[in-house]
Amino acid sequence: MKVTQLDCLCLILLHLLHTADSERFEVLGPTDPIVAVAGDDIILPCYLKPNISAEDMTVDWLNLDFLDGRLFRYQNSKIIREDQILFYSGRTSLFEEELWRGNTSLKLTRVQGTDEGRYKCLIQSKSWYDDFTVQVLVKAVGSKPLVSIEGHREGGMGLLCESEGWHPEPQLVWLNSNGVHLSAGPPETHRDFEGLYRVKQYVIVQETDTNRFTCRVQQSRNNEKMETEIHLPSELFYTTPWRMTFIVLCCLGAIAVIGLSLTIYCMCNKKDDLKKESEDLWEQNHDLWEQKYDLTVKHEILTSQLDFVNTNWSPDFETIRRHAVDVTLDPESAHRNLILSDDGETSETWRTRSGSL
Ligand SMILES: *[C@@H]1O[C@H](CO)[C@@H](O)[C@H](O)[C@H]1NC(C)=O
Ligand SMILES: *[C@@H]1O[C@H](CO)[C@@H](O)[C@H](O)[C@H]1NC(C)=O
Repeated sequence: MKVTQLDCLCLILLHLLHTADSERFEVLGPTDPIVAVAGDDIILPCYLKPNISAEDMTVDWLNLDFLDGRLFRYQNSKIIREDQILFYSGRTSLFEEELWRGNTSLKLTRVQGTDEGRYKCLIQSKSWYDDFTVQVLVKAVGSKPLVSIEGHREGGMGLLCESEGWHPEPQLVWLNSNGVHLSAGPPETHRDFEGLYRVKQYVIVQETDTNRFTCRVQQSRNNEKMETEIHLPSELFYTTPWRMTFIVLCCLGAIAVIGLSLTIYCMCNKKDDLKKESEDLWEQNHDLWEQKYDLTVKHEILTSQLDFVNTNWSPDFETIRRHAVDVTLDPESAHRNLILSDDGETSETWRTRSGSL
């Protein structure tokens, strides 16, 4: 049988078509979103149909919410870690023992709030490629709300409700005992570094017949809720706010401390003064003693001198009499204030000059 050139060409084309066909595959995964609980490990399913081996292919896992965001690459039978989104590093892996039967599922450990998103599983052979997108929802139910009493505010009582660790973002509502929503301040929402939400909201409540109020944090997507009820004693609406009491107590304390310090200071000063005074007095006392001593000595000397004079130099009146002599005064030489008697023996009196004229 003679084979023509045309037949040959046809055979080659058929062969090429066959090989290309055998290389074709589909990439499949779940059509429903994967719900992951924060902190858990999850599998993002992805596989080839038909179940041919992916060991010689390039497997890429991408996060579509990031530009050029690659979580993982398997190429030339190796795991390529370059150009990986940082916060996925160390948390992603393939089941390498499953690759030979076309299982290219990704394992993601310690799921975070920030992991929520769309992930593309892209598989390329030398002549073909296909991809599939898996959606991941992260669920985290946060803490029981913490309600704190903030004190008197604008004629009512201020209450604060806080709760953390939620994903997706929850709604916070304040309710009275009849389940009626209370109008509250603006809600505050923060995201922590793992992408979980923390919410808080203030409310000012007025006294009611029950004085019971509820803070509810709810997540409509997951149909989850957490709530805390608080009962305020009605005295709380009237009594002095503790803050005021605290301030007053602080002021009183400060005044007491200052007063005490001043008293101690004055007492110290007084003590010093008294000490000085006592020293002065002691000195004066000492001087006086010295003076007294001097005087006593002088007194003694004088007394002894007087005694001496008395005994030796003071003859008694009789002795003087016995030694009496008559004295005659010459009017010429007598003191001009003396008026002499006629016999010149006795002076009548001691007169002033004017009296004698
Ligand atoms: C591949 O799929 C076929 C049916 O489609 C199944 O019989 C076979 O066991 C699978 N092979 C592996 C390795 O899973
Ligand atoms: C792929 O491998 C993982 C881990 O063994 C397994 O849980 C998963 O079911 C596999 N997927 C398919 C499609 O075989």
